[in-house]
Amino acid sequence: MKVQVCIIGGGPSGLLLSQLLHLQGIDTVILEKSSREHVLARIRAGVLEHGFARLMREAQCGERMDREGEIHNGFHIAHDGVLDHVDLHKYSGGNSVLVYGQTEITRDLYEARDRLGGKVVHEAEDVTPHDIDSEKPFVTYRTAGATVRVDCDYVVGADGFHGVSRKSIPKHKLTEYERVYPFGWLGVLSRTRPVSSELIYVKHERGFALCSMRSQVLSRYYIQVPLTDKPADWPDEAFWVELKRRLPTEVAGRLITGPSIEKSIAPLRSFVAEPMRYGRLFLAGDAAHIVPPTGARGLNTAASDVYYLYHALLDHYKKGDDRGLDDYSARALARVWKAQRFSWWMTMLLHRFPDRLSYDDRLQQTDMAYLFSSEAALRSLAENYVGLPF
Ligand code: APR
Ligand code: PHB
Repeated sequence: MKVQVCIIGGGPSGLLLSQLLHLQGIDTVILEKSSREHVLARIRAGVLEHGFARLMREAQCGERMDREGEIHNGFHIAHDGVLDHVDLHKYSGGNSVLVYGQTEITRDLYEARDRLGGKVVHEAEDVTPHDIDSEKPFVTYRTAGATVRVDCDYVVGADGFHGVSRKSIPKHKLTEYERVYPFGWLGVLSRTRPVSSELIYVKHERGFALCSMRSQVLSRYYIQVPLTDKPADWPDEAFWVELKRRLPTEVAGRLITGPSIEKSIAPLRSFVAEPMRYGRLFLAGDAAHIVPPTGARGLNTAASDVYYLYHALLDHYKKGDDRGLDDYSARALARVWKAQRFSWWMTMLLHRFPDRLSYDDRLQQTDMAYLFSSEAALRSLAENYVGLPF
């Protein structure tokens, strides 16, 4: 097989890039190791920044998102027995976020790929990039016992944190920056009415909690738990009791509980690999960087990678201009690191760290007090949460 761009990974990053390129007449294939059902069974975060929503519309995939997604103009932070409000619309100069599940985004992107007849190979085994530092890279994979070779101009590694792309770059060419947090988030999805029309982030002495949602009839809640905990340690009843203990009394009083339809524990990690290019391989999304979910930046950071890479490839194919490709890593990383900073900051502000000093507690309290006493601090939070420009 021969294509212009071979994309490894059929998550939101790879799908969105291939859809955008296809609309411009640039030929791609997506090699995805899992089945479509498996990819669509993963529950991920649900807050989209306006820049990501814009890109979905540009990819002609925004119709259901605009119909079913909910515009959120603010969120709450519960701390020290009070429920403070962050007015995103006011403090970001008129912007907002869209609450729409990432799983639904992925579904919409797959349907769009189907409509255009996009090439997506599922259950591609042993996907391996070759000769990425040459002018003629190629990728091989196995399917039904046979090996298939894909010749291409460029390879895009959009295969997530555990993918093969980043690992195919020689170790001495890559610098990795990482922080692993000493706790996880236990998440529960339940077919219940959300406790609040806006998200509530909770800082509590028993640990962080978050009240989120997917729709008016589907709630998503999280509590901070030790990394040693397993979902089986948390029967539904125990989860609801612990969540209520962390919520302000008035909020806990109106929480509607129900059976969980999904329950999992996600570790929290900050990670960046630099540079995001090696020869003719370009990394995008989780393949190059991970944020803890606290700032809702994961998918939104992948969006700017896709945007920069899409325009860089367009300039190459339509104008013979390679400056975008040459600058891709530096441009993408500049925004990636701002999302890292913001996600780290939100995480530090809201969680209980097991080995903290009493000094750290006082700084954390002061950070919160400063936030709600300063318009400048609220503006900074709002502009980062709705998404920095790209
Ligand atoms: N070969 C082929 N495909 C692979 C391989 C491999 N060796 N390894 C992983 N994949 C696939 C995974 O099965 C997955 O479908 O690559 C895809 C990567 O998708 P994601 O992990 O969703 O990463 P990305 O598309 O960059 O999405 C950005 O934003 O909110 C965050 O983590 C969240 O998924 C989210 C991300
Ligand atoms: C979610 O709804 O899953 C969610 C929302 C906001 C976050 C993280 C996760 O910051």
